[in-house]
Amino acid sequence: MTVRERVQVGIVGAGPAGLLLSHLLALGGVDSVVVESRSRAYCEARQRAGMLESTTVELLREVGLGKRLDSEGLEHDGIYLQFAGARHHMNFRELTDGRWVTIYAQTEIVKDAIAARVADGAALEFEVSGTEVTDLDSDQPVLRYTDASGERHEVTCDAIAGCDGFHGVCRPAIPGGGLRTVTERIYPYGWLGILAQAPPSTDQVLYCRHENGFALHSMRTPQISRLYLQVPADEDIAEWPDDRIWDELNTRLAVPGWELATGPVLEKSITPMRSFVAAPMRYRRLFLAGDAAHIVPPTGAKGLNLAVADVAALATALIRLLRDGEPEHAAAYSEHCLERVWRATHLACWMTTMLHVDPAGDPFEAHLQLAQLRNLVTSRAAATMLAENYTGYAPLGYDPDTRLAPSSLCGSVA
Ligand code: PHB
Repeated sequence: MTVRERVQVGIVGAGPAGLLLSHLLALGGVDSVVVESRSRAYCEARQRAGMLESTTVELLREVGLGKRLDSEGLEHDGIYLQFAGARHHMNFRELTDGRWVTIYAQTEIVKDAIAARVADGAALEFEVSGTEVTDLDSDQPVLRYTDASGERHEVTCDAIAGCDGFHGVCRPAIPGGGLRTVTERIYPYGWLGILAQAPPSTDQVLYCRHENGFALHSMRTPQISRLYLQVPADEDIAEWPDDRIWDELNTRLAVPGWELATGPVLEKSITPMRSFVAAPMRYRRLFLAGDAAHIVPPTGAKGLNLAVADVAALATALIRLLRDGEPEHAAAYSEHCLERVWRATHLACWMTTMLHVDPAGDPFEAHLQLAQLRNLVTSRAAATMLAENYTGYAPLGYDPDTRLAPSSLCGSVA
């Protein structure tokens, strides 16, 4: 038997994009259901980047999701750039109008958002299967799924949000010709990432170019470090026992008088690197957000920040459309988001190619990278360009006036 339901917005995917969208819609009095094929435990443990732009932090605070972020997040003035054996501090707060970055893992944002949605009694379905989105040529798209108990649901929606990541079902469901352009670049390397039980050996995130390849030293807490090494794109993780990882991190990150603290490796994995943008991000009443529409390589940590920016704009667009009968924001959604997406795509691609060693590269390429890096640490104008883009200077498309006031959700959760 199929259960037939009606909901204003069907949200596919309980990553940060889907969860935050559901939260923002609730603040505006728009109801939604979130469906996710993975378990809650999986979503809450999935390791991703953990660097938040100040714009992202401010939004999370403003909508009542900032409590744990404020007590546990690590606020940094900037980053370190290391090349040719020397380390340089880039002070973003000084270079911009006071912008900063905060280390707070994506998994923690997911935990906070799930806790907030559950406390609000939201419809949140984990471990669903057979998810389909259909009737996309109508104003009443349909979301179908089988819940964890095996019951089939058919939900008639006013809009569907595809927040289901790069491999999700929503983007491929767009009828032929609905996506006008799909642009992609695959990089000839990947990142081997580890989570280690070791106090961070740096007080701010450290990006390093070395002849052996890129390395990154980040952190999660004062006891847990997150580190990455550039490896070949098709590398087998079995080639990297823990000792080899620490040796290589030591080689690449070394500067005189500095020591890398090591410790047990809690987790390790290899991530491929790609840039991908599908446009437009909307097909009638189906809206794509986050990785479902675009992927950036992790250098610069823009992925989560872009997802937050998308749903900030999408929540406003859907509240205006479905609650207030105003279609203008929905009509402008894709164009609005893509401007930021392409800015971030440029930053991520530029940082990636400046800091990684291309296996097919030549000495000319290496000299260009070093010249660019030297320019960044000697020219205030060049440094400011990095600082503005890294911290995220474009305002979010979220309109706090869409909130129903006073809200029981704001300030009381997470
Ligand atoms: C991380 O902390 O995982 C991180 C930080 C900065 C990046 C990428 C990842 O550019």
